[in-house]
Amino acid sequence: MTIKHFLQFNDLTTDELNYIFERTRWIKAQFKAYQQYWPLSDRTLVMIFEKASTRTRLSFEAGMQQLGGSAIYLNTRDSQLGRGEPVEDAAQVISRMSDLVMIRTFEQDIIERFAANSRVPVINGLTNEYHPCQILADIFTFIEHRGPIKGKTVAWIGDSNNVCNTWLQAAEVLDFNVHVSTPPGYEVEPERANLYGDSHYEEFADPMEAARDADLVTTDVWTSMGFEAENEERMRDFADWQVDADMMRVAKEDALFMHCLPAHRGEEVSADVIDGKHSVVWDEAENRLHVQKALMEYLLLGRVK
Ligand code: CP
Ligand code: NVA
Repeated sequence: MTIKHFLQFNDLTTDELNYIFERTRWIKAQFKAYQQYWPLSDRTLVMIFEKASTRTRLSFEAGMQQLGGSAIYLNTRDSQLGRGEPVEDAAQVISRMSDLVMIRTFEQDIIERFAANSRVPVINGLTNEYHPCQILADIFTFIEHRGPIKGKTVAWIGDSNNVCNTWLQAAEVLDFNVHVSTPPGYEVEPERANLYGDSHYEEFADPMEAARDADLVTTDVWTSMGFEAENEERMRDFADWQVDADMMRVAKEDALFMHCLPAHRGEEVSADVIDGKHSVVWDEAENRLHVQKALMEYLLLGRVK
């Protein structure tokens, strides 16, 4: 039997994604109605964190418990992972004692090597290159507020980082457009983003032009985890790439604002935008829980409907 992993957004087909969004809606409604739903009783999720997290840890751990299973947290500091045990060996052992693994780590290569040696599905909880669970939640949030994302325009303002790369992959699979504006020197790297082509995104030197008429404006921190040494330089380079009220004014009148969080008010986004009428960041954060429950159900049980 082939194991299905979720290491990048385009590991799932359009059909599979639509199925997962449909399941998310149902799973979320059950949760809101306090209905018990335990399809994963006796299943164990291992969560491996090599970087910090609030939302990812909480949503996976709570989500697994809400599905009747249990979750175990490991980090680099107090496991053998931080002391040089080969990732291939760790994968062999961890996947013999669990049913599902979620990893947050540095290079994508680490999670790929883990998955190649795993007996159970592996989920990417963020790497330097991608953050696929985040974009599942973001797109589900868009659909809840505005309906299908197909044909819509998403403006990405700021760093062409893991979250940006994942938006670009998602645009190809779900057929929407991304208008990207980064400072010079931080442009999209299509190979790193692992894109099929360049038909679903366009780069803009001026962030205002990227935001113009967008259905969704989104951004992320200027310095991602693992790149802290570049922080000072990035603060200077990104100074003109803040999403503020003027930028939201050129987007569509009913444009949404999203941010994967944690956010830095006064840097990549102004306080009046993230706390303002366009912002759906709390729904977006909550939806991590619901989409990941649907994802775990799918990876472990396949289609149940
Ligand atoms: N958005 C996100 O992944 O948040 P955490 O770093 O808190 O997990
Ligand atoms: N791009 C950010 C996302 C944090 C959830 C980072 O990698 O640090």
